[in-house]
Amino acid sequence: MVQLRLPENSKIKKGKTLTSHNANKTFEIYRFNPGSNENPSYDQFQLDTNKCGPMVLDALIKIKDEIDTTLTFRRSCREGVCGSCSMNIDGTNTLACTKPISDIKGTVKINPLPHMPVIKDLVPDLRAAYAQYASTKPWLQSDAQLTERERLQSPENRAKLDGLWECVLCFCCSTSCPSYWWNGNQYLGPATLLQANRWIQDSRDDKTNERLDELNDPFKLYRCHTIMNCTKTCPKDLNPAKAIGEIKTMIVNKG
Ligand code: SF4
Ligand code: SF4
Ligand code: FES
Repeated sequence: MVQLRLPENSKIKKGKTLTSHNANKTFEIYRFNPGSNENPSYDQFQLDTNKCGPMVLDALIKIKDEIDTTLTFRRSCREGVCGSCSMNIDGTNTLACTKPISDIKGTVKINPLPHMPVIKDLVPDLRAAYAQYASTKPWLQSDAQLTERERLQSPENRAKLDGLWECVLCFCCSTSCPSYWWNGNQYLGPATLLQANRWIQDSRDDKTNERLDELNDPFKLYRCHTIMNCTKTCPKDLNPAKAIGEIKTMIVNKG
């Protein structure tokens, strides 16, 4: 049998264990400090969850406030609407602020979003993903003259945006997608494609054909093989695979 050996500096070491009074839950957290020459490690923090808010983000904030101020993670709204606190918790990409600690049996294992470069600890480098998002021109492009009034939509046309506008660009879906893992430099991934569909479906936008032509590319769009990891993991219960299917159908219908 072939044996694979990882380079020494890629191995994740066992880190420190820090315990607080009356601890009843262990949080095992990926640590990486680009400023040191140390390998990444898993640190264990043992907390009394009776003295902590109910969500995984509450535990992270408590650890940072009271045990280790160097612990680094993104967060902002703590309401599941900014998309900042996406990470891999208990093996699933999700939002830390909407993930109840009580959902997880045993040790809570927390890693950064997979297959992305790590800036520090739980903070992935999303610059490439955001550049892909920007490449789809994610704003309204209308030929209509600006007036003093709003641009009106019928209730039916407005309803076409449901299931799309709710996306918080957390990239949980893209970083769970095997096609994006292997071809992320060319394949746009489910988050960006769902967002692209948000503008394609918007009745007020006049660049539908141009948007579809831009996406009609073997790598940008057709690397999706309907594996459905994206839809399974989305913490907002959206369906990026369906959105990708809608784009493909519109390209076929356009001819
Ligand atoms: S579709 Fe869901 S998982 Fe993907 S970026 Fe949007 S909210 Fe996050
Ligand atoms: S359905 Fe497409 S975008 Fe979603 S995980 Fe599968 S390959 Fe990726
Ligand atoms: S902090 Fe905003 S989505 Fe979690």
